Amino acid sequence: MTMRLQKYLALCGVASRRAAEKIIAAGRVRVNGRKVTRMGVLVDPSADRVEVDNLIVRPAEQYEYILLYKPEGCVTTMKDPLGRPTVKDLVRDVGVRVFPVGRLDRDTSGLLLLTNDGELANRLTHPSFGIEKEYLARVKDLPSRETLQRLAAGIMLAEGMTAPAKVRLIKGGRPTSLLSLTLKEGRNRQVRRMLEAVNHPVVSLKRVRLGPLTLKGLRRGEWRRLRAQEVKALRQLAGLT
Ligand code: URA
Repeated sequence: MTMRLQKYLALCGVASRRAAEKIIAAGRVRVNGRKVTRMGVLVDPSADRVEVDNLIVRPAEQYEYILLYKPEGCVTTMKDPLGRPTVKDLVRDVGVRVFPVGRLDRDTSGLLLLTNDGELANRLTHPSFGIEKEYLARVKDLPSRETLQRLAAGIMLAEGMTAPAKVRLIKGGRPTSLLSLTLKEGRNRQVRRMLEAVNHPVVSLKRVRLGPLTLKGLRRGEWRRLRAQEVKALRQLAGLT
């Protein structure tokens, strides 16, 4: 789809349409490397390269932030070579391409954030920002107090010690108990491996919180857009303003 150059510049936030005309007349704009001073030149935003003062201009990206209650049995990827159900199947109606922030195992359910805001996604998954991820784990048997303390202090995994975590016994029992674990890192299958290491393998696992976000109001397989306040809170946590 083509549009007039001055309209495109306005759409990109360079200036108002009227002011954009002045910028064009002043010879500051190039289209595919050629200086344009004539009004009314048509550009195709998906094919033409538009520069103002030698800087490429593009429309402001529309960021989307989707909170999904991922069910078990679907893989955290947008395309699965094995043809299994993916999270993409669940967020088809969003309209733009979004990508999962981090990963939940196929057999883990719970909160998954998807976005096209790459900078935020990188920060949320980087351990140096210490964003809390809270899991409910149903485990085999009844972990002792000492075991809970070990999990909280750090467990030796193949690649090294885990960082300190918050661990709480929600309901102890046999044959299974329910634990809450809050981690600030997100290694591959971390919760499962930590609990395996203390001989209380996971029976089922669900992520219930990411920073300030919870699953409240969502049912399995449902998603919703984040509210502006939630996006703001997340960006602040990640050191972006
Ligand atoms: N830890 C795990 O072991 N699995 C997940 O899906 C998430 C955290």
